[in-house]
Amino acid sequence: MINELIEKAFEARENAYAPYSKFKVGAALLTANGKIYTGCNVENASYPVGICAERVAVSKAVADGEKDFLVIAVVGDSSSYCYPCGMCRQFISEFCSEDFEIISVKSADDYKIIKMGELLPYTFSL
Ligand code: THU
Repeated sequence: MINELIEKAFEARENAYAPYSKFKVGAALLTANGKIYTGCNVENASYPVGICAERVAVSKAVADGEKDFLVIAVVGDSSSYCYPCGMCRQFISEFCSEDFEIISVKSADDYKIIKMGELLPYTFSL
Protein backbone atom coordinates (compact mmCIF):
# COMPACT_ATOMS: atom_id res chain seq x y z
CA MET A 1 0.00 0.00 0.00
CA ILE A 2 2.86 2.40 0.75
CA ASN A 3 4.29 1.73 -2.71
CA GLU A 4 0.94 2.45 -4.36
CA LEU A 5 0.52 5.72 -2.45
CA ILE A 6 4.03 6.82 -3.39
CA GLU A 7 3.41 5.98 -7.03
CA LYS A 8 0.14 7.96 -7.01
CA ALA A 9 1.83 10.94 -5.36
CA PHE A 10 4.44 10.97 -8.14
CA GLU A 11 1.69 10.73 -10.76
CA ALA A 12 -0.23 13.59 -9.14
CA ARG A 13 2.90 15.73 -9.12
CA GLU A 14 2.94 15.61 -12.92
CA ASN A 15 -0.22 17.74 -12.92
CA ALA A 16 1.21 20.37 -10.56
CA TYR A 17 0.70 23.91 -11.76
CA ALA A 18 3.76 25.69 -10.41
CA PRO A 19 4.92 28.26 -12.98
CA TYR A 20 6.00 30.71 -10.26
CA SER A 21 7.93 28.62 -7.74
CA LYS A 22 8.76 25.82 -10.22
CA PHE A 23 8.45 23.56 -7.17
CA LYS A 24 6.04 20.77 -8.04
CA VAL A 25 4.38 18.77 -5.27
CA GLY A 26 2.20 15.67 -5.39
CA ALA A 27 0.18 14.04 -2.62
CA ALA A 28 -1.82 10.84 -2.23
CA LEU A 29 -4.21 10.38 0.69
CA LEU A 30 -5.50 6.99 1.86
CA THR A 31 -8.92 6.82 3.54
CA ALA A 32 -9.99 4.27 6.13
CA ASN A 33 -12.13 2.51 3.54
CA GLY A 34 -9.30 2.10 1.09
CA LYS A 35 -9.86 4.98 -1.32
CA ILE A 36 -6.98 7.12 -2.54
CA TYR A 37 -7.34 10.83 -3.28
CA THR A 38 -4.53 12.70 -4.98
CA GLY A 39 -3.57 16.35 -5.12
CA CYS A 40 -0.99 18.66 -6.62
CA ASN A 41 -0.09 22.26 -5.90
CA VAL A 42 -1.99 24.83 -7.95
CA GLU A 43 -0.35 28.25 -7.96
CA ASN A 44 -1.78 31.61 -8.94
CA ALA A 45 -0.47 34.91 -10.32
CA SER A 46 -1.69 36.37 -7.04
CA TYR A 47 0.71 34.20 -5.03
CA PRO A 48 -1.20 33.67 -1.74
CA VAL A 49 -4.19 32.38 -3.68
CA GLY A 50 -2.29 29.21 -4.64
CA ILE A 51 -2.98 25.97 -2.81
CA CYS A 52 -0.72 23.12 -1.69
CA ALA A 53 -0.97 19.54 -2.91
CA GLU A 54 -1.98 18.20 0.51
CA ARG A 55 -4.95 20.54 0.89
CA VAL A 56 -6.13 19.68 -2.60
CA ALA A 57 -6.07 15.95 -1.77
CA VAL A 58 -7.84 16.40 1.57
CA SER A 59 -10.43 18.74 0.04
CA LYS A 60 -11.18 16.32 -2.78
CA ALA A 61 -11.76 13.56 -0.23
CA VAL A 62 -13.97 15.68 2.02
CA ALA A 63 -15.98 16.88 -0.97
CA ASP A 64 -16.50 13.20 -1.82
CA GLY A 65 -17.88 12.52 1.66
CA GLU A 66 -14.70 11.02 3.15
CA LYS A 67 -13.36 12.26 6.48
CA ASP A 68 -11.58 9.25 7.93
CA PHE A 69 -7.96 9.27 6.85
CA LEU A 70 -5.01 6.98 7.56
CA VAL A 71 -1.97 8.26 5.74
CA ILE A 72 -0.79 10.79 3.16
CA ALA A 73 2.26 10.51 0.91
CA VAL A 74 3.90 13.78 -0.15
CA VAL A 75 6.56 14.21 -2.80
CA GLY A 76 8.31 17.49 -3.60
CA ASP A 77 11.22 17.94 -5.94
CA SER A 78 12.76 14.60 -4.87
CA SER A 79 16.13 16.03 -3.90
CA SER A 80 15.01 16.45 -0.30
CA TYR A 81 12.19 15.26 1.92
CA CYS A 82 9.11 17.46 1.57
CA TYR A 83 6.97 17.97 4.66
CA PRO A 84 3.54 19.60 4.79
CA CYS A 85 3.75 23.35 5.41
CA GLY A 86 2.29 24.84 8.59
CA MET A 87 -1.02 25.68 6.98
CA CYS A 88 -1.38 22.14 5.65
CA ARG A 89 -0.52 20.66 9.04
CA GLN A 90 -3.37 22.60 10.62
CA PHE A 91 -5.67 21.76 7.70
CA ILE A 92 -4.93 18.03 7.94
CA SER A 93 -5.21 18.02 11.73
CA GLU A 94 -8.87 19.03 11.47
CA PHE A 95 -9.61 15.50 10.30
CA CYS A 96 -6.81 13.36 11.72
CA SER A 97 -5.64 12.07 15.06
CA GLU A 98 -2.03 12.21 16.22
CA ASP A 99 -1.61 8.68 14.82
CA PHE A 100 -2.24 9.77 11.23
CA GLU A 101 0.91 9.16 9.19
CA ILE A 102 2.73 11.37 6.72
CA ILE A 103 5.07 9.68 4.25
CA SER A 104 7.62 12.21 3.09
CA VAL A 105 8.99 10.85 -0.16
CA LYS A 106 12.23 11.35 -2.02
CA SER A 107 11.93 8.23 -4.17
CA ALA A 108 10.13 4.90 -4.24
CA ASP A 109 12.64 3.43 -1.82
CA ASP A 110 13.70 6.55 0.06
CA TYR A 111 11.02 7.94 2.31
CA LYS A 112 10.33 8.83 5.95
CA ILE A 113 7.17 8.08 7.89
CA ILE A 114 6.18 10.66 10.51
CA LYS A 115 3.15 10.81 12.77
CA MET A 116 0.84 13.80 12.84
CA GLY A 117 1.54 14.13 16.55
CA GLU A 118 5.20 14.73 15.77
CA LEU A 119 4.53 17.18 12.94
CA LEU A 120 2.00 19.26 14.83
CA PRO A 121 2.04 18.72 18.58
CA TYR A 122 -0.35 20.70 20.82
CA THR A 123 -2.78 21.10 17.92
CA PHE A 124 -5.35 23.84 18.03
CA SER A 125 -8.92 22.58 17.93
CA LEU A 126 -12.23 23.87 19.21
N1 THU B 1 3.77 23.29 -1.42
C1 THU B 1 2.94 22.22 -1.37
O1 THU B 1 2.18 21.92 -2.29
N2 THU B 1 2.97 21.47 -0.23
C2 THU B 1 3.79 21.70 0.82
O2 THU B 1 3.71 21.01 1.82
C3 THU B 1 4.78 22.76 0.76
C4 THU B 1 4.65 23.71 -0.36
C5 THU B 1 3.75 24.10 -2.64
C6 THU B 1 3.22 25.50 -2.48
C7 THU B 1 3.87 26.20 -3.64
O3 THU B 1 3.09 26.00 -4.81
C8 THU B 1 5.19 25.49 -3.81
O4 THU B 1 5.06 24.26 -3.12
C9 THU B 1 6.39 26.26 -3.30
O5 THU B 1 6.18 26.70 -2.02
